[in-house]
Amino acid sequence: MSSRRIFRPLLALLLIGCTGVSSAVQAQTQPKAPDTMEARVQGCTACHGSKGQGTDNDYFPRLAGKPAEYLFNQLQNFREGRRKYPPMNYLVTYLSDDYLHDIATYFSQQRPPYPTPTKPTVSDSTLAKGKEIVLNGDASRQIPACAACHGKGLTGMEPAIPGLVGLHMDYISAQLGAWRSGSRHAIEPDCMHTIATRLTDADVNAVAAWLSTQQAPQNPVPAPAKSLKTPLACGSEPQ
Ligand code: HEC
Ligand code: HEC
Repeated sequence: MSSRRIFRPLLALLLIGCTGVSSAVQAQTQPKAPDTMEARVQGCTACHGSKGQGTDNDYFPRLAGKPAEYLFNQLQNFREGRRKYPPMNYLVTYLSDDYLHDIATYFSQQRPPYPTPTKPTVSDSTLAKGKEIVLNGDASRQIPACAACHGKGLTGMEPAIPGLVGLHMDYISAQLGAWRSGSRHAIEPDCMHTIATRLTDADVNAVAAWLSTQQAPQNPVPAPAKSLKTPLACGSEPQ
């Protein structure tokens, strides 16, 4: 783990901690701040960007424009320990489903521009392998095309399949690694666990590299619910 990965979240948490203390002090002398959405998500923007667009930290994901149910499922996953990242687990521990739902809806409706895709740092043959798996899968190893569920434009599908554009290579490979090692879980049947465990390290590297170089399409909204028939059953996307 790089020191940057550890230091930045700690700094952000410190800042959040300070805000909590100073607002408690202020509360004695000033009227209570209004409970606006902007106020609720203030503690999130240091790591996820002011509109959920993400930051240049390789492990902090974009939230903007992902389907609301997907984001809600993740907030529940962090609250209940199915995903592990201590600052996230801590932040949502005491938040209710209704509150999490409002936050998820807010970020799903944000439309900040996508970052310029990164320049490839891997060989052309690795990129070609990544593209092949994402668009066509590998039938001989029972790996379905990622696009079969995440959409041709890779913008996901309502209500709960996320887009894969606008994410950093390291974030994508870390998530696939977490599914393989069992530290990230989705609602059963967990199709991503099944798929990730069929990928080799080289596959993960290739798909993450190719995905991170893709430009978001003109209209980057998730495909409508049930517009794609998922090749495996996914508990979070009932069909
Ligand atoms: C200290 C930095 C930090 C703060 C503050 C933070 N997050 Fe996160 N968030 C992360 C990281 C890092 C991940 C990815 C963790 C992992 O590896 O699974 C993440 C993941 C998420 C995800 C899952 C995204 C996806 O595409 O799967 C959601 C949703 C989310 N955060 C929402 C929030 C909300 C809402 C807040 C404010 C209440 C918040 N985060 C505050 C760093 C942070
Ligand atoms: C059968 C449908 C299906 C296929 C095929 C599929 N996915 Fe997924 N994927 C999902 C679902 C559903 C989720 C949301 C899981 C959850 O709720 O955590 C997801 C989530 C993800 C995430 C998490 C994104 C984030 O923001 O944290 C990544 C990364 C991902 N998939 C990559 C892939 C890759 C790479 C492939 C191809 C090798 C692939 N997926 C194929 C259904 C699918």
